[in-house]
Amino acid sequence: MAYKTKEWRNGMRVTVDFNYMMNKSLGERGITDEELRAIKGKAEQAYAYVKENRGKDELYMGWTELPYNQDEIVNDILATAKQIRKKFKYFVVLGIGGSALGPSMVFNALKHLHYNELPPKKRGGPKFYVEDNVDPVRMQALLDVIVPEETCFNVISKSGATSETMTQFLIIADILEKAGVSLPDNMIFTTDACRGNLIKIDEKYGGKFKKYVLPDGVGGRFSELCPVGLLPAAVLGIDIKGLLAGAAYMDSLCNKPSIAKNPALALASLHYITMQQGKNIHVLMPYSDNLKLIADWYCQLWAESLGKAVDYAGNTVNAGTTPVKSLGVTDQHSQVQLYIEGPYDKVITFISVEKYGCEMPIAHGCEDIPDVGFLGGHTMQELIQAENKATAYALMRAGRMNYTINMPEINAFTLGQLMFMLELQTAYAGALLNIDTFNQPGVENGKKATFALLGKKGYEGQKKEMDEAPALDGKYIV
Ligand code: PA5
Repeated sequence: MAYKTKEWRNGMRVTVDFNYMMNKSLGERGITDEELRAIKGKAEQAYAYVKENRGKDELYMGWTELPYNQDEIVNDILATAKQIRKKFKYFVVLGIGGSALGPSMVFNALKHLHYNELPPKKRGGPKFYVEDNVDPVRMQALLDVIVPEETCFNVISKSGATSETMTQFLIIADILEKAGVSLPDNMIFTTDACRGNLIKIDEKYGGKFKKYVLPDGVGGRFSELCPVGLLPAAVLGIDIKGLLAGAAYMDSLCNKPSIAKNPALALASLHYITMQQGKNIHVLMPYSDNLKLIADWYCQLWAESLGKAVDYAGNTVNAGTTPVKSLGVTDQHSQVQLYIEGPYDKVITFISVEKYGCEMPIAHGCEDIPDVGFLGGHTMQELIQAENKATAYALMRAGRMNYTINMPEINAFTLGQLMFMLELQTAYAGALLNIDTFNQPGVENGKKATFALLGKKGYEGQKKEMDEAPALDGKYIV
C-alpha cells in the first residue's frame, strides 16, 4: 500500500497555517508571541493529561488507541463487507448522533458525490443511506427507494436505548418480519460488548446477529475509527486501513508537548486564548463539497465535548464555543459578509485542498465581456483555490482571526489524519478548560424528558415535573 512508504506519507501530510491568527498579520487584534509563551505551561499540562490517560476506558479515552488495536477487527470487517457487497443492493445505517455523523461524513468525503445515482457497475457496492433522524417523512422517503429484503441494516447504538435508533429499528424489524425475513439475515448490530438492549435482542434470537463492538472507552462522537465507521466505510469499498494509518500518522505528528511542534495542541491553545477573549463562535469552512459533512461531524465533536456547565473543580464555567458549519465557496455569498464586517466574536477555520479529485478546465468564451472572459483558460480548481486564499486574506485585512488546515488531497489517509487531529485538538481543549470532555449530561437530560413525555415506565416523576412547569402554550403566542 502506498501509504506505507515514508516518502508518500510525508507528501500527504496535513498541515496547519495560523499566521492569520497572529498580531504580525492582524495588528492589535492578533495573538502575540507573549500570549503564546504565557500559555506554554498550561498547554504542556493539557498534553500531559491526554498522554497519561490515553486508552483509559473509565475516562472514555479508548479512542486514542483505535489506530493501533484493531487488526483482527479490521480483517473481520473486510470479510463481512465483501459478503455484503455481493449479497445486498442497499446498505442502511440506523443510528443518530455519533453513530450517524461519522459514517455520513466519510461517505461524503471519499465516495462520488452522486454515488447512489451511479449505475451499479460504476458504484461497485450497495446504495448507501444513513437514517439520522426520526422524521416520518424521511423514513418514508427511505422506504420508497429501498427494497428492505435486499437491504443490509447496520443498527448502531452503544446503549440500545436511544429512542431514535430503536424507533428506526422497530419499524424496519416489523417490515422485515412481515416480509418473512429473519432479522439476523439482514441486520448487523454495532453496540456495547455485553450491555445494552441490542445484546438483549440478540439473545432473544439465539445470538444469531452478526455483532461488532463499540468499545467501552469510546464515546459516540469519538467512534468513527472503530466498527461504527469502519464497517460502513468498508462496505463502500473505502480503504479503512488507510484511514487508520492516517490517524496513526497524525498521532505521531502530535507527540510533542510543544505548540510549535504539535498541530492539535497549537489549535487547542489558540482556541483557548480566543475563548478567554470572548470569541465564542467557531466557524469551520471547508473549500470542498467532499468535506461538507466534516463540518457537521466536527460541530458535534466540539459542541458536545466542550459545552459544559461545570469544571473538574466544581466551578460553574458554562464553557464552550459555538461551532458553525459553512462551505466554501458557497457561503461566500451568504455568511462571509457577516464574518468580515460583523462582531469580532469568531474564529474561522478553513480547510483547503491542494489537489482536487479532478481539474475541470473552464472553456474560453465571451472574450468581449470582461467580467466573464477572464475566466476562460483557467480551471475550476484554480478558481476555488483563489477564492479560498482571497477570503482568508480579506478576513485578515479586516482584522478577523482565521487559520487554514491544508490537505494535500482528499483520500483515506489524509481524512484519517484530519479526524484524529480534530479529536486530539478537542481533547486538549477540554483539558485546557479543565472540564470532562467525554460526557454529555445535557443530552442525557433531553433523552429523559422524551421518555417522560412518551410515558416510559420509571419516568412518572419527571412527567409530573414537566406538567407543572411553565407551559409552552402559555401567554406569549402570536
Ligand atoms: O456522542 C455521543 O455519545 C452521542 O451523540 C451518541 O452517539 C448518541 O446519543 C447515540 O447514542 P447510542 O450510541 O447509545 O445510541
